[in-house]
Amino acid sequence: MRDFFAEELEALRKRALDRHLREISSAQGPEIEIAGRRFINFSSNDYLGLANDPRLREAAASAIDQFGVGAGASRLISGTQSPHLRLERALAKWKGTEAALCFSSGYAAALGTIPALVTKNDVILLDKLCHASLIDGAKLSGAVLRVFPHNQLRKLESLLEWARRKHTGKRILIVTESVFSMDGDYAPLRELVELRKRFDALLMLDEAHAVGVIGPNGRGLAAAENVSEEVDIQMGTLSKALGTSGAYICGSRVLIEWLINRARSFIYSTAPAPAIAAAALAAVDFLSSHQGEERRLLLWERIRLMQELLPRAGLKGEAVAARSAIFPWIVGDEQATLNLASALQSDGFLVPAIRYPTVAKGAARLRITVTAAHTEHQIRSLCEAIRKMTNLQ
Ligand SMILES: Cc1ncc(COP(=O)(O)O)c(C=O)c1O
Repeated sequence: MRDFFAEELEALRKRALDRHLREISSAQGPEIEIAGRRFINFSSNDYLGLANDPRLREAAASAIDQFGVGAGASRLISGTQSPHLRLERALAKWKGTEAALCFSSGYAAALGTIPALVTKNDVILLDKLCHASLIDGAKLSGAVLRVFPHNQLRKLESLLEWARRKHTGKRILIVTESVFSMDGDYAPLRELVELRKRFDALLMLDEAHAVGVIGPNGRGLAAAENVSEEVDIQMGTLSKALGTSGAYICGSRVLIEWLINRARSFIYSTAPAPAIAAAALAAVDFLSSHQGEERRLLLWERIRLMQELLPRAGLKGEAVAARSAIFPWIVGDEQATLNLASALQSDGFLVPAIRYPTVAKGAARLRITVTAAHTEHQIRSLCEAIRKMTNLQ
């Protein structure tokens, strides 16, 4: 490799911004194994503990028996197998939309969908804390992109006024998340829906960290706030609370047909493995069931316990943190965050240090995620370890 890559890596290292892979030698769950040692895992988005659930494993195994391992082609060629369509029907029913379309990842969903919705002369207004996939999709579209400060509706409103004035007759797409991935707080959905209506804009909502966690049967924040009908493009991932991989867009039949014709990451990519679609369907079925709702309520018990026990001082605001399964422990300095994560790892806890560019420079944090699969004891011992380490109450 040319020297400049080595030099740039060294520069990253000096700023404590270098990243490394770690090998997990077990299945996902509240306990995982790294290099022969067990760790309590507070790093995953497997909020309901479904990634290694027997129902999902069984669904995947029986789909492998019937459909094999690979999909063989893209969806529009010959890769659409029964599990894909069953999953899309179930997703549409669960979310209460006319139709749904699956992508092989959330990243692919954003990258394919946004450029299909808007082009060069249109406008995208995107929340500053949106996930990289949404930012990249917005950039790829070539539309005029304006980023508004996180959740600041006044600013969004003035941008909407500007866009309507300066880009008369063009499409305006508002892009945001319902639960923000690194902060765990919510978008002000009711107000956003109001603005969407007033300015005749389109609203795309990424519910990646809300589905399975929030709303009746885990249908997300839009369902919880009863505004699903006013969200034009409902995105979610299958890779977090639903325990598998891939993502979906739910919306009108016309929207889905349009994406089938225009979303390049859908068209020009091999279909997801049928076994993954079958496992995701089992997850949707589970969420729609009484047992699934019980699991979701158990998650909320665990969230409340974490909220109660985590020393207050490091949290980004009490009310904010307790609204999802994500607890951002803001440290600020990158090296200090790495030190804290590695001290926790020595104590047997895996908690990821999140640094720039995932979050802003100087806003490094431990991102603690709690799942329904954690025991009370595991949560208590993490909080105790943090308390000892930081001398905070
Ligand atoms: C808000 C948000 N959207 C999209 C994605 C991308 O999803 P995937 O991991 O399935 O590519 C993620 C996380 O990875 C995310 O946090």
